[in-house]
Amino acid sequence: MLSRGVLRATAVSFRSNTALSLKTRASFPLAIGQCQKSLSSPLPEGRRYVSVYGYTQAKALIYSRYGEPQDVLRLHNHSISPPHGTEVTLRLLAAPLNPADVNQIQGVYPSKPPFQTTLGTEEPSAVAGNEGAFEVIATGAGVKNIAKGDWVIMKQTGQGTWRTHAQMDESKLIKIENKEGLSPLQIGTVSVNPVTAYRMIKDFCDWDWMRAGEEWIIQNGANSGVGRAAIQLAREWGIKTLNVVRERKTPEETEAIKNELRELGATEVVTESELLSREFKGMVHQFTRQGKEPIRLALNCVGGKSATALAKTLAPGSHLVTYGAMSKQPVALPSGLLIFKNLSFDGFWVSKWGDKNPQLKENTINDVLQLTRAGKFKDIPAEDIKWKWDTDGSELAAGVQGTLSGYRSGKGLFKFEGGD
Ligand SMILES: NC(=O)c1ccc[n+]([C@@H]2O[C@H](COP(=O)([O-])OP(=O)(O)OC[C@H]3O[C@@H](n4cnc5c(N)ncnc54)[C@H](OP(=O)(O)O)[C@@H]3O)[C@@H](O)[C@H]2O)c1
Repeated sequence: MLSRGVLRATAVSFRSNTALSLKTRASFPLAIGQCQKSLSSPLPEGRRYVSVYGYTQAKALIYSRYGEPQDVLRLHNHSISPPHGTEVTLRLLAAPLNPADVNQIQGVYPSKPPFQTTLGTEEPSAVAGNEGAFEVIATGAGVKNIAKGDWVIMKQTGQGTWRTHAQMDESKLIKIENKEGLSPLQIGTVSVNPVTAYRMIKDFCDWDWMRAGEEWIIQNGANSGVGRAAIQLAREWGIKTLNVVRERKTPEETEAIKNELRELGATEVVTESELLSREFKGMVHQFTRQGKEPIRLALNCVGGKSATALAKTLAPGSHLVTYGAMSKQPVALPSGLLIFKNLSFDGFWVSKWGDKNPQLKENTINDVLQLTRAGKFKDIPAEDIKWKWDTDGSELAAGVQGTLSGYRSGKGLFKFEGGD
């Protein structure tokens, strides 16, 4: 069997394993002291302090202990020296607020950026955020492939993206080769959710290209960033999707969300109550032409009863991939699914996968951006959180707090509106 939907002509090894080290550059302590002092005097609205020595003034949302974002996040002012060697100075364009970012701040996420004093903080601290689009505003003399004006994203998670400016080594960045026709939202959200959806669909099922349009994916959390990406990629690759969303307050609102997903290319959309109802088996039978079209992959970011119900619809020998746990309920599986249907239950974590497969990650990002340029991959709904030079830290932290609350109309997105 051949895998469907190979967008790139050149195959790249799934197993390539270039380890990348994460290093944050220390800023110049004297300059930090000078600049922080200077910042206490009022500046014209929207203006940023730039020192006569060419230091860039920056602000970063940092935390030095774990807890709820509104309790532990604070805005830290610091200065960034002119870049030298292979360093690149960046200005934030847009950075999303993903559930994992909040889990990381709460201290319940497996990867934890180290607490350091490199930004001149009194206590060792980490910069929050894992994803984002940045514009290059200056480069060191040794930088080879990145120039002022380029747009870049982080090569790995954990580099800290909720900051107005940053300075990083060229090797820690992925340059967007052709940013024409792309927005900061599209570039700033490409490396986590779409890559997760793409790899789960490609790497956990040997799709039968002879049966294009006759095989299915079932997924919960279908209106999440990952879910929306999965719908669009599956549509592009000739795979049908059965999508589960939670009911809204009114039938009209529920229908509106179902329609949104249908417009993206969802084949069928059902609610969580429908999924858990007695009638669901019959519905699946009908959707899949009396079971002639197998459901070969389940994508689970909810857990609990929802995950069990997804598993029950799978054809023998299929995979259920768990990549999130939004309900905080464990995945419980009837033994019969393992014994008689030989189902496989896997997990996927894009951070770990990306660290092991940096080149394939870059290729995957480029494929998604290519689809985006072609109008085949739509923007996720986003709620902009404007970050001006004078925006208060508590305002930014309050925007972060709602990320896990659910029933949101869009993903939070920091948009920096200050100057260079
Ligand atoms: N393993 C990985 O590599 C990886 C990568 C990316 C994301 N993820 C995980 O995937 C999940 C989705 O992330 P995202 O960035 O795509 O999310 P998102 O766009 O922020 O959307 C969150 C989703 O979670 C749903 N949700 C929230 N609370 C829920 C609950 N108690 N029960 C059921 N559904 C609930 C929301 O549904 P409503 O609209 O109904 O509230 C929404 O669909 C998260 O768990 C995230 O950590 C994992």
